[in-house]
Amino acid sequence: MVAPADASVIIYKGLANLPAFNPDVESQDLPQTVKELRKQVGNADGLLISSPEYAHGVPGSLKNALDWLVGGFEFIDKPVALLNPSPHSLFAHPQLMETVRVMSGKLIEDACLTLPIAGKKLDATGIANDLTLGPPLARAMQTFCNAIKQTYSDNRSGKAR
Ligand SMILES: Cc1cc2nc3c(=O)[nH]c(=O)nc-3n(C[C@H](O)[C@H](O)[C@H](O)COP(=O)(O)O)c2cc1C
Repeated sequence: MVAPADASVIIYKGLANLPAFNPDVESQDLPQTVKELRKQVGNADGLLISSPEYAHGVPGSLKNALDWLVGGFEFIDKPVALLNPSPHSLFAHPQLMETVRVMSGKLIEDACLTLPIAGKKLDATGIANDLTLGPPLARAMQTFCNAIKQTYSDNRSGKAR
């Protein structure tokens, strides 16, 4: 709704179905849900991650999914933007930034933002139509899409990162 018209946004809905990360199964046959996660991440031009903060940290389910991606190639150099839905959440956002960086994702800092969305009980339309939320979100999405296009055009012309 706030994404540029030429972008399609696919919501990953599999977090709750992933098993707890276990590096011992990396070398064996991966669970189907993990293969599907890696496929979806591999197919995406960029990843937009928006997460609540629980107990001053990244929710375990999200960190679990990121841990499953560490052993694959799909996350490497992938453009990533982070949307922090609460200015009160001071811990999870920088933790996620660090995790994305150490996993060799390409953090697009200009497209990362913090907005007071949490607790407002707004649906997607309500957020898009809110004058304090919709316009900055749309700008961040445009910045993210521009950065993605730039990344892939640099890759084609042989410029690294
Ligand atoms: C168990 C629990 C722990 C939470 N811990 C934090 C926290 O440490 N920091 C924070 O900013 N918000 C915390 N929150 C608030 C959530 O991040 C979120 O803003 C709130 O649940 C509203 O979400 P909603 O807009 O989806 O209803 C916590 C919420 C719950 C239920």
